[in-house]
Amino acid sequence: MSKVTVVGAGNVGATCVNVLAFRQIADEVVMLDVKEGVAEGKALDMTQTATLLHFNTKITGCTNDYEKTADSDVVVITSGVPRKPGMTREELIDVNAGIIKGVVENVLRYSPNAILVIVSNPMDTMAYLTCKIAGLPRNKVIGMGGTLDTARFKCYLSKALNANPNEIEGLVIGAHGDTSMIPLVRYASYKCRPVTELLDKDTLDKIVSDTMLGGATITKMLGTSAWYAPGAAAAYLVEAIIHDEKKVIPCSIYLEGEYGQSDICLGVPVLIGKNGAEQILDYHLNAEEKELFKKSAESVRVTNAMLKDLGVI
Ligand code: 2OP
Repeated sequence: MSKVTVVGAGNVGATCVNVLAFRQIADEVVMLDVKEGVAEGKALDMTQTATLLHFNTKITGCTNDYEKTADSDVVVITSGVPRKPGMTREELIDVNAGIIKGVVENVLRYSPNAILVIVSNPMDTMAYLTCKIAGLPRNKVIGMGGTLDTARFKCYLSKALNANPNEIEGLVIGAHGDTSMIPLVRYASYKCRPVTELLDKDTLDKIVSDTMLGGATITKMLGTSAWYAPGAAAAYLVEAIIHDEKKVIPCSIYLEGEYGQSDICLGVPVLIGKNGAEQILDYHLNAEEKELFKKSAESVRVTNAMLKDLGVI
């Protein structure tokens, strides 16, 4: 029996629960929120789709009742506020850091063995905060950003190639930030052919910039941040863990010297299986990519430093 908790029943959290249930990724999904009745209402609504969508996952909603989350195998943390148009993800730190700290402490009280998937923004810093306060081995704290950014990268590549997105390989590493993520064009391919052979430089540059602004573009359109792809990206990671898929998925992990960085959570290619982040893969970066990765780390360190000022670590 597998049990997954999703903390936060907002747009991203609820979408994640919906995907987990609909695709029967876990036997039981608990959704928890601080707002009275919201998680219960959404859980009931989703449960009533079971015969329409042909699934049999148990969905439980609760208001701040962490006891109901007990013994979860995986806990997805989506709590906090989303950004509004014109805001960066980093600007959310003041509000979200305190919220995430409280959530992590409550989650671990009831599920000390859980693997934590961090979605809340600024994601790399929230993953770092979780590593600092949770006292878990690093394989058990996984930041979701690169999973989502990679899905967006493949989406834009597929549009330019007029191709099935599922036949595209690619990865985005570095931070989950508008100016600090790194779509690795050199490693992207379609049907085993490098995209650099299939698309011209201007088109590729546009794909990179569209990917980096993927979240901001939707935030501008909707007045709040995206949820379908972020929720599905979190569920994709959960699936790789619960089903021990051993998939290589870019995600934010606490680095101990890999890619030249330590004491930071940053997006790198990771083998995901039943033990969470089972192995960090060492892709060869050229000088330009190494420099981008270093700059990306520098920008995350600036945000991480704020955690001390806020008194959360
Ligand atoms: C995004 O990029 C919410 O950070 C998330 O859409």
